[in-house]
Amino acid sequence: MIRFDNVTKVLSGKPVLNGIDFKIERGETFCIVGASGAGKSVTLKHMVRLMTPDDGSILVGDDEVSSATGEELARIRNRFGYLFQSAALLAWLSVAENVALPLREKHNMTDEEILDCVHKTLAMVGLEADGEKLPSEISGGMRKRAGLARAIVENPEIVLYDEPTSGLDPVTSRTIDRLIGKLREDLGVTSVVVTHDLHSALAIGTRIAMLHQGRVAELATPEAFMESSSEEVQRFLASQYITKEAPWERDLQ
Ligand SMILES: Nc1ncnc2c1ncn2[C@@H]1O[C@H](COP(=O)(O)OP(=O)(O)O)[C@@H](O)[C@H]1O
Ligand SMILES: [Mg+2]
Repeated sequence: MIRFDNVTKVLSGKPVLNGIDFKIERGETFCIVGASGAGKSVTLKHMVRLMTPDDGSILVGDDEVSSATGEELARIRNRFGYLFQSAALLAWLSVAENVALPLREKHNMTDEEILDCVHKTLAMVGLEADGEKLPSEISGGMRKRAGLARAIVENPEIVLYDEPTSGLDPVTSRTIDRLIGKLREDLGVTSVVVTHDLHSALAIGTRIAMLHQGRVAELATPEAFMESSSEEVQRFLASQYITKEAPWERDLQ
């Protein structure tokens, strides 16, 4: 579905991606983890050509994203929904109007059809009663869910999430995790989730890729990721207080 082959990228004279390889299968929830500055967002941006690689290739299905232009690029981008880190809702539009934006921009739908589609999508993320509110009138977690509704309103094949749980409390974070899982189960979407939150990645990921110094340091299922022999992975797990043994077992040693 999405394939990176030896993708490299230098930004401001600094190598950020040093030969990234991976293949994401249809229907996966593929998580990309790593420390701040590891190149997670840069990797995600390459998938929709918000950035172009210096070298290597990026395929979405049979389409080469890194050389696509014009209508071909527009068609590729239409396969994606994108939840940016900031959620980026327009402050002067209601939640429902924010979610309706992509429909108004691209499709020949009647107002009634748009309203119906927006209502269904808001219901999916549990915001059916909040459509008339302004972004400033709802909580951070609700804004993320509104951003998620906007990302999925066109029924995309692939949804990209950049730090969907950052800045949220643990309970709200798990709500977002469950929503991402629900999209996969109900709609069969392929998801790519960039996160520094390993708890999320372990809970929702079909596979986890860890970036370190511009390379894929580990690529494994959550279970195998926990058991990784990579020192970087173990250090990352420990930094988030995730250990293989329960704490009381450690205390006994
Ligand atoms: N547009 C840009 N211009 C120059 N440097 C950038 C740009 N975007 C990201 N970088 C640099 O690339 C590195 C990786 O960034 P990023 O992918 O945003 O990290 P993260 O893993 O935290 O998402 C960082 O050192 C960042 O400063
Ligand atoms: Mg980032």
